[in-house]
Amino acid sequence: MTLDARTWDGLGAALSAAEPVRMGVVSSVVGLGLEVSGLNAPLGTVVLIGEGKIPAEVVAARRETLHCMPLGALENIRVGDFVHSSGTSAYIPAGLGLLGRVLDGLGNPIDGLGALGEHTMVAMERQAPAALERSRITVPLQLGVRVMDTLTAVGAGQRIGLFAGSGVGKSSLLSMIARGTNAQVNVIALVGERGREVREFLEEDLGPEGLARSIVVVSTADEPARMRLRAAFVATRIAESFRESGAQVLLMMDSLTRVAMAQREIGLSAGEPPATRGYPPSTFSLLARLLERAGTSAEGSITGIYTVLVDGDDHNEPIADATRSLLDGHIVLDRKLAVSGHFPSIDALASISRVASRVTTREQANAAGTLRKVMAARKSVQDLLDVGAYQRGSNPLADAAVDHQGAINNFLQQRLEDPVPAAQSWAQLDSLLRTMGVS
Ligand SMILES: Nc1ncnc2c1ncn2[C@@H]1O[C@H](COP(=O)(O)OP(=O)(O)O)[C@@H](O)[C@H]1O
Ligand SMILES: [Mg+2]
Repeated sequence: MTLDARTWDGLGAALSAAEPVRMGVVSSVVGLGLEVSGLNAPLGTVVLIGEGKIPAEVVAARRETLHCMPLGALENIRVGDFVHSSGTSAYIPAGLGLLGRVLDGLGNPIDGLGALGEHTMVAMERQAPAALERSRITVPLQLGVRVMDTLTAVGAGQRIGLFAGSGVGKSSLLSMIARGTNAQVNVIALVGERGREVREFLEEDLGPEGLARSIVVVSTADEPARMRLRAAFVATRIAESFRESGAQVLLMMDSLTRVAMAQREIGLSAGEPPATRGYPPSTFSLLARLLERAGTSAEGSITGIYTVLVDGDDHNEPIADATRSLLDGHIVLDRKLAVSGHFPSIDALASISRVASRVTTREQANAAGTLRKVMAARKSVQDLLDVGAYQRGSNPLADAAVDHQGAINNFLQQRLEDPVPAAQSWAQLDSLLRTMGVS
């Protein structure tokens, strides 16, 4: 006999109604973790503790004991508190009804707009697509940012890092991309920011127009490490559910460094040894696991843009170092450009997209290469220019760069509220090169 889905649902409901509610008790609270005995629940399940129903996630199980990490305030939890499983919390909502909504790390709406629209519940846990099932990256994804669409063309399914210090224009750039991309859905994870920054991002940077095409998952700096980490995976899982239905999804995570810091906190509290600058080994495997979940699958693609903090020009910072090798390209934001009012503050010569050649035509690649050469020539004579010792006529590319600096900057700069379609950016690049006489 075969049973259809409806019958299964009915059976499931009947079974869970018939099953007695199982309770466990808190047997110890140590560091960031707590142990629960008398309850059996799969990993990833959210259990609720005590009268305050403080959520905690099951992260390990040993004999009769579950190891849990709180997703809420730990202070009010005591030994002996009753614990029960919330049952379905290893599941999160996914679907078009989530568009325009802001969710927490459990997948619950926190924007005060009531219940979620049309959605299904999907299991949190998921494997990344196998290497051979992934389709190759062959089509560009428009970001609507001129300098990126031409000089660092991004492919649908590519994973790219945005390396920047704080206050250099990351959030503004992400919001610009959210409004300018031709991806069908944006999923934006804000992890470890302060509450005020989140508000500003939603209300000022993204605005109603950007939010309408996006799903935002937020876990602020004051939330427990486990919740911050979970937000990164919830956002990734939601992006995957759209990819499964064939969509081209853009996943933006701000910041990956804060996700790594959450894992550092968790790893250290579980007794792992600190390895590189206080980061335990699990941090690096976690980053690899998280980034592997984006990319192409057989059905669709998740293009991932992850911000990485590089404060104080510390290029040996372990997280920046590790992610550079896990990603297919990096965009560098430069503080000097930002303070001089050059936005987006992208240092194009320091930025690279490893798939650019696969998603651009030969003409486009040539044009981008020419502008890069002109900019590099200018950079090489910058010292001479600064002291007034520059001699014209020795390098035609440098001459072109000096003569047309204004036009080049007009091309590289772009107002936050003016996304440009990629086709138009390429046309503007052609006309810039013709004006300079170097095409
Ligand atoms: N495209 C832009 N045009 C004008 N100003 C910008 C632009 N991008 C960023 N800024 C300025 O830079 C400041 C910091 O940007 P923000 O995106 O919040 O940085 P981050 O997220 O890296 O900390 C903003 O308050 C804004 O004044
Ligand atoms: Mg920011």
